[in-house]
Amino acid sequence: MKNIVILISGRGSNLEALIAARQAGHLPVNIAAVISNRAAAPGLETAARAGIATQCIDHQTFAGREAFDAALADCIDGFHPDLVVLAGFMRILSDGFVRHYSGRLINIHPSLLPSFAGLHTHRRALEEGVRIHGCTVHFVTPALDHGPVIIQAAVPVLDDDCEETLAARVLEQEHQIYPLAVRWFAEDRLRLENGRVRLNAELLANSALVSPLLR
Ligand code: GAR
Repeated sequence: MKNIVILISGRGSNLEALIAARQAGHLPVNIAAVISNRAAAPGLETAARAGIATQCIDHQTFAGREAFDAALADCIDGFHPDLVVLAGFMRILSDGFVRHYSGRLINIHPSLLPSFAGLHTHRRALEEGVRIHGCTVHFVTPALDHGPVIIQAAVPVLDDDCEETLAARVLEQEHQIYPLAVRWFAEDRLRLENGRVRLNAELLANSALVSPLLR
């Protein structure tokens, strides 16, 4: 069974979805550790309750990004992960760190990338007046919120949406697609080919989700 390490910075609802999927028998991985850069991250409690090893490496105690990333990589590598899963880990990672985990570092982002990389994705989607919004799981490359897409889920943007309602609709989909993406990796059902993700044929029908509201 593959080993994964999950990195968080806060709430940890995606972490919870991954733990729940594993407990339900839908995610055949060993969650070796959950690491946060913030001691107050509620997700650390969630992990500890589930009996998962937790670590906090506070970025504020390091002189700079490279030093923090080196300590973080040391800690991660101690758990020998096959895959490192960023689940609301709100730090820009140095190129060296990203290269070190090339092909085994994935992230979830609350937009249909390449639209709305960066922060405040839901507010910006509303400001732009887009009709479809969503979330993306992708392999991490040195460019922020960029890299080969594994899976995306789309949701409609409704006329009376505010940031909170839209965020909640997207988050529900995040909790669906992240465990799926990790499962596909764990089962060797996806591969990177010339900078694109190729899925095994039997997954293709599942490679896009559309909110039930559209049906
Ligand atoms: C999620 O919406 C995730 O997509 C986003 O942070 C939130 C974390 O929530 N990540 C990013 O914006 C990364 N660029 P969670 O802690 O409840 O999983």
